[in-house]
Amino acid sequence: MMRIQMADNLSFSRVVLGFWRVDEWNLTTDQLITFLEECLDMGITTMDHADIYGNYTFEEIFGGALEKRPDLRKKMELVTKSTIVYASANVRVKYYDNSEKYIVSQLEKSLKNMRTDYVDTLLLHRPNPFMNPEEVASAFDKLFKDGKVRTFGVSNYLPHEYRMLKSYLRVPMVTNQIELSCLRMENMENGVIHMCMEERIHPMIWSPLAGGKIFTAQGEAEERLRSTLETIRAEIGADNIDIVAFSWLLSHPAGLVPITGSGEIKLVKRPVEALRYALTPEQWFMIWTAVKGHKVL
Ligand SMILES: NC(=O)c1ccc[n+]([C@@H]2O[C@H](COP(=O)([O-])OP(=O)(O)OC[C@H]3O[C@@H](n4cnc5c(N)ncnc54)[C@H](OP(=O)(O)O)[C@@H]3O)[C@@H](O)[C@H]2O)c1
Repeated sequence: MMRIQMADNLSFSRVVLGFWRVDEWNLTTDQLITFLEECLDMGITTMDHADIYGNYTFEEIFGGALEKRPDLRKKMELVTKSTIVYASANVRVKYYDNSEKYIVSQLEKSLKNMRTDYVDTLLLHRPNPFMNPEEVASAFDKLFKDGKVRTFGVSNYLPHEYRMLKSYLRVPMVTNQIELSCLRMENMENGVIHMCMEERIHPMIWSPLAGGKIFTAQGEAEERLRSTLETIRAEIGADNIDIVAFSWLLSHPAGLVPITGSGEIKLVKRPVEALRYALTPEQWFMIWTAVKGHKVL
C-alpha cells in the first residue's frame, strides 16, 4: 500500500486503523491478532489509540495482542492521545490536563498497557483553554529525550490554537487529527485544512464515514449524498459507495490520512481499494453540492 511521509524519520500507512470501537468488534485476543496480521498484510501498519478509549481499557486490549505477539510491534506505527480526564468516583467533572506531570504519566501508562517501549506519535487529544504551553513543551522534550515518543502532534486544534502551541515547542508537530467526511465538512472551510497545508503536515482524519451515518442517517442531504455516491460509484466502476466516500478524502491535495473504525476485514479493505481511484474535480464537487444543497458560487 501507498505510504505517506509524516516527518523526515516517520511514514504512516495511507490508511490507519482506529481502536475507538474495539469492544464492538467482539474479538478474542487470538482473533485480534489474526485481524492485525490481515491488516498488516494489506499494508495498514499505523494504529490509532487514545488513553481514554473504552474508559481507559482499550489500549490494554491491544496490549494483550502484543503481549502474545511482540514481534508485531516492529511492523507497526503506534499513535496515542491523552489529556482528557473523564469524570469518575474521584473526579467531579470531565476536564483536560496538559500539565507536564499528567502528560508524562499518562504516556507511561499507555506504554505499559500497550506492551511497548515507545509510541511513534503522541497527540494532545483536544485543545485546552487552561493549557500552559511551557508545560507541554517540557513534557514533549522529556518524552523525546527518554526515547518514549518519536514524534508529536495534536487533535481537533483550530489554526490559532495550533500556532500558539507550536510557538512554544522545541520539537516539531507532525499532524492534526481532525473530523472530516462527506457529511462533516466544517474543517474544509474553517481554516484547519489550509493551516495543515501551510504547515506542510498531513491531517489524520477521524470518522471518515461520519461514524457510519453516511449509510444510515435520514434527511434530504443524506439522501442526496447517497444517490450522488451511487452515481459516481457506477462511473468509476467501484464496488461500494463507501469506496467513493473514502476517495473523496483521499483525492484531496492535502494528503489526508483516514482512520477506519471498522473491525471487519472486508470493510477495512474499502479505503485501501479507494486508493485506486482519483475523483475528478467535477465528481468531487458533485458530492460537495449534494451535501450543501446548492451549487458553488
Ligand atoms: N481524535 C479524535 O477526537 C477522535 C474522535 C473519534 C474517533 N477517532 C479515531 O477515528 C477512528 C475512526 O472513527 P469512526 O469509528 O467513527 O470511523 P468511521 O469509519 O467513520 O465509522 C465506523 C463505523 O461505520 C461503520 N461502517 C460501515 N461501513 C464501513 C466501512 N466501509 N468502513 C468502516 N466502517 C464502516 C462501522 O461499522 P462496523 O463496526 O460494523 O464495521 C462503524 O460502526 C476511531 O477508531 C479513532 O481511532 C478520533
